[in-house]
Amino acid sequence: MKIDIDSTLAAEGGTATRATFLPFHQPTIDADDERAVLETLRSGWLTTGPRTKAFERELAAYTGAAHCVALNSCTAALHLALEAVGVGPGDEVITSPITFASTANVIVHRNARPVFVDVDPETLNIDPQALAHAVTPRTKAIIPVDFAGQPCDLDEVMAIGRQHGLTVIEDAAHAIGAEYKGRRVGSVADMTCFSFYATKNITSGEGGALTTDRADWAERIQVMGLHGISRDAWKRYSAEGYKHWDIVAAGYKYNMFDLQGALVLSQLGKLDTFHARRVALKARLDAGLRDLPELAFPAERPGRKHVYHLYPVIVRTEALTADRDTIMAAIQAENIGIGIHFRAVHLHPFYTETFGFTRGMFPHAEYYSDRTISLPLYPRMTDAEADDVVAAVRKVIARYRR
Ligand SMILES: Cc1ncc(COP(=O)(O)O)c(C=O)c1O
Repeated sequence: MKIDIDSTLAAEGGTATRATFLPFHQPTIDADDERAVLETLRSGWLTTGPRTKAFERELAAYTGAAHCVALNSCTAALHLALEAVGVGPGDEVITSPITFASTANVIVHRNARPVFVDVDPETLNIDPQALAHAVTPRTKAIIPVDFAGQPCDLDEVMAIGRQHGLTVIEDAAHAIGAEYKGRRVGSVADMTCFSFYATKNITSGEGGALTTDRADWAERIQVMGLHGISRDAWKRYSAEGYKHWDIVAAGYKYNMFDLQGALVLSQLGKLDTFHARRVALKARLDAGLRDLPELAFPAERPGRKHVYHLYPVIVRTEALTADRDTIMAAIQAENIGIGIHFRAVHLHPFYTETFGFTRGMFPHAEYYSDRTISLPLYPRMTDAEADDVVAAVRKVIARYRR
């Protein structure tokens, strides 16, 4: 009897698709980035300063927003956005359950109530119809998420916001460089929050930014991101000379510092090149996987530039003899790193225990939550590595096909 060694899963004692582990993500850091950081290290100015300020100007120009505040995370940006519009006890903020912890956590940090609404099952972005039904007199803001790098239905979400006098704070952690009907994300919603976390499309290791056209919000966020001490406090040790500063509010320590600013400024210049590589790799993964009936893929809507931050697939467990976690473990055993974006936030213990959310409330989000696996997709991946991803997934699916 001929035994095909390669078809035996590594999880079941076979040979792995790859001899070495392919990480789920690796940043692309080149000599320019290294030089930018090294120059900053040698400049004598490490904290918030000229590089961070230059990045703020560049990101405002890139997105087309009037103002940009650089911060130490997207979480900080979301938190300060809610603070700037005065979200507090008794208020409700509507968001998507298919998101990262912080989108919902910041609502809780403001002592407000997170209100989830279901997602569009095809895009996994917030469903505008469900959103419209969830608005109450207590609703103060909406935080839609640009899931995986595809802008949400901004026209519809903004229209609901305008109709009810709500602030729309776009969580664009995945979506730097994305466009909606010809406008860059960052210039459409009332405020837009970006992440430069290590896995994001451009990175400073940790980092974030907020863009807005409103000068009063930008100023409040700038102040609240640096202890609540008066404007331009970062200059207090600069050549301009020391000036007294005042504590105007009990702010936070959320400032981006210049090592981050230098790195992400250098990265911003490469965003379009990175994007072109993501597009090519995404097409390669599509070509290798789209014929598998056991997988489904989020839909792309017209009129948007999707920036392919993630490559999520939906494992149609109805067509398989294994659940998502078994498939996930088998792909990892083939030496392919994976991610899960996301298990629905409303089903996590804190949210069920504190707010009484239960399974069954948001069926589209839950269906996806139970079946999604994100496959590696990042500019420094080679075509051969993308082919390994395809081979590993096909091998695992073939094993568990019904
Ligand atoms: C949708 C979403 N929102 C917010 C965040 C938070 O970003 P940060 O890590 O920069 O705070 C993330 C991070 O992964 C995210 O995926």
